Amino acid sequence: MEFLKRPMKFAFLWLEGWFDRFFGPKWNPFYCLGALGYYYFWIVAASGIYIFIFFDTGIPQAFTSTEYMTHDQWYLAGIMRSLHRYASDAMVVMVLMHLCREFAFDRYRGGRWFSWVTGVSTLWLVFSAGVTGYWLVWDKLAQYIAIASTEWLDWLPIFGEPIARNFLASSHFDGRFFTLLVFMHIAIPLFLLFIMWFHLQRISYAKVNPARGLAVGTLAMLFVLSLVKPAISHEMANLAEVPGVLNMDWFYLWAYPMIEHLGPGFMWAFAGGGTLLLILVPWLPPKKRRPAAVVDLKNCNGCTRCVTDCPFRAVNMQPRTDGAPFREEAVVDPSMCVSCGICVGACPTAMPFRRASDLVAGIELPDLSVAHIRAQAHEAAVPLNGKDRIIAFGCDHGCDAAKLGINNLAFVPLRCAGMLLPSFIDYVLSKNLADGVVVSGCREGECHHRIGNVWVDGRLARERDPQLRRRVPVERLLKNWAAPTDRRQLFTEISAFQARLRDLPEDDAATRLTLVNGGKTDGTETSETAA
Ligand code: HEM
Ligand code: SF4
Ligand code: SF4
Repeated sequence: MEFLKRPMKFAFLWLEGWFDRFFGPKWNPFYCLGALGYYYFWIVAASGIYIFIFFDTGIPQAFTSTEYMTHDQWYLAGIMRSLHRYASDAMVVMVLMHLCREFAFDRYRGGRWFSWVTGVSTLWLVFSAGVTGYWLVWDKLAQYIAIASTEWLDWLPIFGEPIARNFLASSHFDGRFFTLLVFMHIAIPLFLLFIMWFHLQRISYAKVNPARGLAVGTLAMLFVLSLVKPAISHEMANLAEVPGVLNMDWFYLWAYPMIEHLGPGFMWAFAGGGTLLLILVPWLPPKKRRPAAVVDLKNCNGCTRCVTDCPFRAVNMQPRTDGAPFREEAVVDPSMCVSCGICVGACPTAMPFRRASDLVAGIELPDLSVAHIRAQAHEAAVPLNGKDRIIAFGCDHGCDAAKLGINNLAFVPLRCAGMLLPSFIDYVLSKNLADGVVVSGCREGECHHRIGNVWVDGRLARERDPQLRRRVPVERLLKNWAAPTDRRQLFTEISAFQARLRDLPEDDAATRLTLVNGGKTDGTETSETAA
């Protein structure tokens, strides 16, 4: 799969970089494709309710009432009809791009299989809702769809009598079938909404609303499109005639020429095989999962921060089981954990100032412990010298500062920037392991683990626990969110940061040491000083 994923990922990163430049991360549509899917769903629902007021479900009336909306009441019902169509098209585009992006960025394996598989089922519902909508207009395109769809369904031996027979002549086609279609066109989106909700049940803080500017801007675009190119119908369906030239909606109806030319059997194989393949993708090929986070009860005080910060709902609180004087303890559901380490960065007991024998956090990644990260920082500091020594903490998914070829920089890798407890920055500076600390990770507005960099922003801005302590000299800290393709940007920022470090006063390092050794600090630090 890598041969597919890599070019797709770089294409997305390249495009997203341009959108960042023009719109900024907040309004970058690529960072909220799922949220835009939701947004377009609501536009489709609202416009659909409006046009349903005018829609008549009888056989010729379905067509005539739609024509009334389009031509007589073009200024309101007509615009609503167009919005309904274009927002549905936009929804398909968003959903398919969302699928490709989750795939390209490898966000569908492990605990994420659930969102992926439920996502696959939305595809059938989105397309069925669109197709039944086209059918309702009862024009020549609807006639074509009706015949091709029923022939496609008839290929499966599930109906006693072929349903395509309904469309042989007008006399065979009764209003009850049409009422059933109307019911389906309402029931399918309702079920889709339920699946959209279900789709998010294994993630927390799901972004379901795009930024206001983006929402208003895209709605305005759809509105202008509705005015400039209103949705119109073909001629009324006539079962006695074969439909001639048709204007297809290629977002929804691309499968119909395939049914016509390659046959219903081929299309079933394509749709069924494609769905099965998509469902199996999270396990193709089987990949070794990293071990899930584990709770160490001796160090867990039941503060609930890990539960609050976990983006995948993998941690819960339960009544204490070890008799410790706390009400609750954290428990991890390994099947939902993606081993991002964000909970470790939230745990107040992951303090690097503690003595080596004691440095076990309340929650830890078994294959990347807090003690190991601290040891790595010490080891990394050894070869550094001068006034611009840097230790960079960075995640596996952003731009890798180690590959930039910057002198006097040592890199300590993390699973996610959100794994970094702010006290590590304090530790590196006050222990004089380096003159400056860089924290880097995925681009702003997007994070491989969904919200790791958002939590880091809050912690470093002292708006979210665990906060960066006030005594940390912020001029010695550089936070940079950059993708693997943003090497030049990170290089420039770090080089400028090093230049600023060189200009800082000489005695500053000594001041930093005093902070710990003579400082008014908490108990943990006193024990470290003793160590
Ligand atoms: C109606 C269609 C869909 C809507 C409205 C929708 C919406 C969303 C939203 C809002 C999120 C949360 C994004 C975040 O806050 O990080 C999400 C996550 C996700 N979606 Fe969809 N989605 C849809 C279809 C799909 C499809 C077709 C797939 C792929 C087959 C898919 C795969 C995923 C995955 C894997 C995640 C989890 C991402 C992560 O764990 O980082 N979705 N979706
Ligand atoms: S953040 Fe740490 S101390 Fe707090 S509940 Fe979670 S594991 Fe326990
Ligand atoms: S590592 Fe922690 S934050 Fe990440 S999914 Fe597992 S429990 Fe949640």
